[in-house]
Amino acid sequence: MLDGRTTLTQFIIEEQRRATGATGDFSGLLYDISTACKIISNAVSKGALAGMLGVHGEAGGSTNIQGETQKKLDVISNDVMIQSNIWSGHLAGMASEEMDDFIPIPPQYPHGKYLLVFDPLDGSSNIDANISVGTIFSILMCPNAGANATLEDFLQPGTEQVCAGFALYGPSTMLVLTTGNGVNAFTLDRDIGEFVLTHPNMTIPAETSEFAINASNERFWEPPIRRYVEECLAGKTGPRGRDFNMRWIASMVAEAYRILTRGGVFLYPLDEKTRSKGGRLRLLYEANPIGFIIEQAGGVAITGRGRVMDVMPGELHQRVPVIFGSKSEIERIAAYHQDYIDGKEPTTDSSPLFSTRSLFRTQ
Ligand code: F6P
Ligand code: MN
Repeated sequence: MLDGRTTLTQFIIEEQRRATGATGDFSGLLYDISTACKIISNAVSKGALAGMLGVHGEAGGSTNIQGETQKKLDVISNDVMIQSNIWSGHLAGMASEEMDDFIPIPPQYPHGKYLLVFDPLDGSSNIDANISVGTIFSILMCPNAGANATLEDFLQPGTEQVCAGFALYGPSTMLVLTTGNGVNAFTLDRDIGEFVLTHPNMTIPAETSEFAINASNERFWEPPIRRYVEECLAGKTGPRGRDFNMRWIASMVAEAYRILTRGGVFLYPLDEKTRSKGGRLRLLYEANPIGFIIEQAGGVAITGRGRVMDVMPGELHQRVPVIFGSKSEIERIAAYHQDYIDGKEPTTDSSPLFSTRSLFRTQ
């Protein structure tokens, strides 16, 4: 029994009724994506029982365009996303982290008005350790609806997203969605095979004492990141006057979901290791959708030099620095970057900077 609970299907159709001029295309697309996520969830949860773990291909495994080793589940999840969406008529094209070029819609299928970009299995380097992984997706309008998409059609800033979401394959399978009207999360009820709305209108607390960064990269960090983390680590007796806690799952979907539920900060900043590539995470199917969701939940997502969603992409697999989470901490990190760009020396709590700017006043 649903006991008054809202399924994803019902939620999507009710949203569609509220949107004037909606044709049902978008609802159909979301429904197909959610079906793909259920199939991937099933494959992920079977793990070793169905031979799902390990690398794809012969000795040492294949690599994707990012130079990352592909896991079997990366390839399976990519195929599931493509097969679930290619035939529907809702799309003019797709792009995936696992594919060098964008994926055209073959001539035997109708062409629609949307573009779908996705990371089929984020965090998959963790899969053999049974750590949470997920599927991230972003939906854009194709400038030439009904035609074959071109590469340029995909190169839109995150502000143009009409929808973003991610599925998280953890102890529960969750689907987190935004269409620009807040963030709602659904839990997969395996008994009925449906996502059920369990976390309506998620909001990120503005204050937090928890941050996540891969500290093994410390020697590559820029001064503002060094400054922020050093101050957190100094704890109660340092300039922040309180202790901080640290987490690093190395699975961005899992970190994003933690931040949605209890606040926090995630940093994969620009550093000397990734500078020549532009950053570590990918703009179109990692940073933008997560940035959209975080902003819609009241958080902030920046590169250190501006808002993630304002970055104009130059290529499909473009990388960017990503820093997101609770508003007051991200604003502080943005101010530290600004100080660095302006050539200002880091100051301490007793300095005029901290007493005149309300942002830095400690409680
Ligand atoms: O897809 C990239 C990703 O797996 C993210 O999910 C995660 O945050 C990051 O890479 C982990 O990077 P590293 O292995 O450098 O800690
Ligand atoms: Mn990823």
